[in-house]
Amino acid sequence: MKNITVIGSGTMGNGIAHTFALYGFKVALVDVNEDVLYKGLQTITANLDRQITKGDISEQEKNNALTNITTYTDLYTGAANADLVIEAATENKETKLNLFKQLSGVCGEKTILASNTSSISITQIAAITKNPGNVIGMHFMNPVPVMKLVEVIRGYATTDEVNTTIISLAKQLDKIPVEVSDYPGFIANRILMPMINEAVYSLFEGVAGVQEIDTVMKLGMAHPMGPLQLADFIGLDVCLAILNVLHSGFGNPKYAPCPLLVNMVAAGHTGIKSGSGFYKYKKGSKDLVVADKFNLMDDKNLAKPK
Ligand SMILES: NC(=O)c1ccc[n+]([C@@H]2O[C@H](COP(=O)([O-])OP(=O)(O)OC[C@H]3O[C@@H](n4cnc5c(N)ncnc54)[C@H](O)[C@@H]3O)[C@@H](O)[C@H]2O)c1
Repeated sequence: MKNITVIGSGTMGNGIAHTFALYGFKVALVDVNEDVLYKGLQTITANLDRQITKGDISEQEKNNALTNITTYTDLYTGAANADLVIEAATENKETKLNLFKQLSGVCGEKTILASNTSSISITQIAAITKNPGNVIGMHFMNPVPVMKLVEVIRGYATTDEVNTTIISLAKQLDKIPVEVSDYPGFIANRILMPMINEAVYSLFEGVAGVQEIDTVMKLGMAHPMGPLQLADFIGLDVCLAILNVLHSGFGNPKYAPCPLLVNMVAAGHTGIKSGSGFYKYKKGSKDLVVADKFNLMDDKNLAKPK
């Protein structure tokens, strides 16, 4: 396993490319246009610099990692030589099915096709390909270079060989793989998203403000980050998409996304990536932490209706 193709250079894709490149793999990073790829590379460079400052890597390791990454806007060229493809495109079923159909046409019989999806059925994705046994979920956590967990999701047809290969690959990256079955949201988001949704509902119903909710969960439950800040970090659009998958997948109203979350996404307040969500962020800042805080209830456009 040497050549890795990563599809999508957004929040997760650039982190996955960063991690593989740092561990010596050749990475083909694919996205829809040059601008997003450039932004992805800028983020990777800034995050490698952060690792140098922390003393985790050397300047030489940073340069080697950057040399290992090549960018492509054409899926066919980017995926043609892949031993493993990791799809980290937008959390949308049609987008993923379309991508896997194309990948199935361009990749060799032995290429493993993995999805970093947070919630969409690996079995459904696999069913659109020629070799469903080669399809698996490889769910990294955000930020990828830092977080240890990789949720490994076996689809209905995933072979033992593919499962074993992905588990040992995750270990090669110094990650800790955990195997789970293919049901909506798997484990991570099946548990996390209802908590985030409940935090948004608590805000929507005026039970407490943004900072109060996050402070209760940080100081009371020893969470390193409150649920609303975490939602900003994940992307509110991603949270909404996952909740919709849980809601339709289980047919249970307990997963219905809070109308405030729906409104915020419609208004373009998607969290850190847009500069505002439950908190506001310094424009262009690569800092993963909140720059200046505001209370959502002060925002006329987003505040709960009286
Ligand atoms: N954000 C998180 O914390 C997080 C954590 C774990 C998993 N995920 C999952 O990772 C995936 C990516 O999420 P993200 O947060 O990085 O999203 P994002 O919006 O930051 O990035 C998605 C990228 O995919 C690109 N893209 C869309 N369609 C494409 C196509 N046809 N070909 C190539 N590129 C395409 C977009 O241009 C964009 O750059 C989703 O499935 C999401 O559920 C997200």
